[in-house]
Amino acid sequence: MVVIMTGIRTVLLTVAVLSAQNPFVIAIGYGNAGSCPKPYKFGNGPPASCPQPTDPNNRPPSQLESWFTKEMFDDLFPFANIGWGPSSCWPYSYEAFKISARYFPEFGTSINVNNTVYKPDQNMRRDLAAFFAHAIQETGENNYSLYETLSDEEASNCFYRGGFFNWFEGGPTSRYLDPTTPGYTPADGNSCSSAGQYCTDSPLISYFYPCSNQTSGNPAAPYKGCYFGRGAIQISYNYNYGQFQEWLKSKNIVVDLLSEPNLLMTKMDPPLAMMASLWFYMTPQPPKPAMHDIVMGNWESGAENKAAGYTGPIFGPTSLIINNECGGEDENNPGGPGESRRIKAFKWFCGYFKVPTGEQKTLSCKNMPVKLDMIQHNLSYQIDWSSNWKNAPCDCVPASYGGLIYYYDPKYYPASFVAQNEMNRKKCIESVYANPSMYGVDKTTACLNYKSPLN
Ligand SMILES: *[C@@H]1O[C@H](CO)[C@@H](O)[C@H](O)[C@H]1NC(C)=O
Ligand SMILES: *[C@@H]1O[C@H](CO)[C@@H](O)[C@H](O)[C@H]1NC(C)=O
Ligand SMILES: *[C@@H]1O[C@H](CO)[C@@H](O)[C@H](O)[C@H]1NC(C)=O
Ligand SMILES: *[C@@H]1O[C@H](CO)[C@@H](O)[C@H](O)[C@H]1NC(C)=O
Repeated sequence: MVVIMTGIRTVLLTVAVLSAQNPFVIAIGYGNAGSCPKPYKFGNGPPASCPQPTDPNNRPPSQLESWFTKEMFDDLFPFANIGWGPSSCWPYSYEAFKISARYFPEFGTSINVNNTVYKPDQNMRRDLAAFFAHAIQETGENNYSLYETLSDEEASNCFYRGGFFNWFEGGPTSRYLDPTTPGYTPADGNSCSSAGQYCTDSPLISYFYPCSNQTSGNPAAPYKGCYFGRGAIQISYNYNYGQFQEWLKSKNIVVDLLSEPNLLMTKMDPPLAMMASLWFYMTPQPPKPAMHDIVMGNWESGAENKAAGYTGPIFGPTSLIINNECGGEDENNPGGPGESRRIKAFKWFCGYFKVPTGEQKTLSCKNMPVKLDMIQHNLSYQIDWSSNWKNAPCDCVPASYGGLIYYYDPKYYPASFVAQNEMNRKKCIESVYANPSMYGVDKTTACLNYKSPLN
């Protein structure tokens, strides 16, 4: 109790000094971690010592660290890690969050933001509010019983402090794991039952992101290739683990997540559980822009959406991106799961950070006239059907349907992603020559008789 109180006071001081022109203090009426009922804790808790989260690349601090402190993290997520609280020995801690954020210098910072709806200071905080809001729905404790014993306001102040609770899909006792080691330590996710495999194996997906066939020898959890949801916003399926693995490689971190998907929860150098979720939040997967870019206003919604007010830095379409949920907000508290939970959590975190939520209507994607996958643009690189019969090497061009190799149309995606297009085009050409059958072509297709233009 005393420790927590000291923590809060530190927060007030640090933050007040930081932004003198836009004073920021935690809003009155948002309680504090110490005043919430103690949660049920699963298992025996974190070890007394362990390898600490580190960054092998020693990336510089993110701007986020200048305003979002460990005291705030600990006040916001007292029940993280299946009830035990933030711990640097386990997947969720300020240290892990901080290191992960260093890989996304635009997250929770004022870099690359030029919307004029909110001040840079507000954009920074709204970005974190949105990420945390989705984490509440995905892996929060979501303890309804708080509303039975506490006032609505007190209950909400504890309910929305329930983030980063679960590690594995299925909760603290995951039905995908061996019932004798059901998820009370991060290593419990090393193998799973067949239901936890989440392996998608179309010819194209198996070529780029093959599922592991390794087995564990434990009949209660025989499979090692287990791509069920893990981490704060639950990345799942081999193609997401595989894309994250590729991204890590581009950052000089070599890790075989397709063979060992549970490294997402156990690796600490760097810590991956938060990083994987931030990666998903920060990365567009055409036709979906990044959730971050929507909250920042770095997206193009088209004339019809603009006319209806769905443009600029809004929250609503982020729920469409993460889980295709547009049910709107329930009237009561805590209301049901899904989009309602995401909206209410966003409002709570915005209140805590003292930033505007935006107008009620655009908090939901319910009335957005043109959904993201209906906004017409080119989405992926594909073999060039208009030229592959010609007497010339095969090529890849942007196509209007989705695929595994993204094309980032400059009108719809930030320049940093558009810059990847040429690399992606080459990756596509390489794959056409390496495995033509997955594109439905073979040596009878003229272009394949010409040497790859990349050699
Ligand atoms: C939910 O909150 C109640 C207090 O209202 C507490 O007794 C219980 O342990 C909590 N449940 C979990 C799973 O933390
Ligand atoms: C797993 O087994 C399937 C079917 O036997 C095979 O097609 C696939 O190549 C194997 N995957 C790996 C990564 O070895
Ligand atoms: C910010 O505005 C400038 C000038 O209009 C533009 O060139 C740039 O692409 C914008 N940045 C983002 C991330 O939208
Ligand atoms: C999509 O890309 C093709 C080239 O493959 C181009 O001809 C077409 O204009 C593009 N469509 C859009 C909507 O940009």
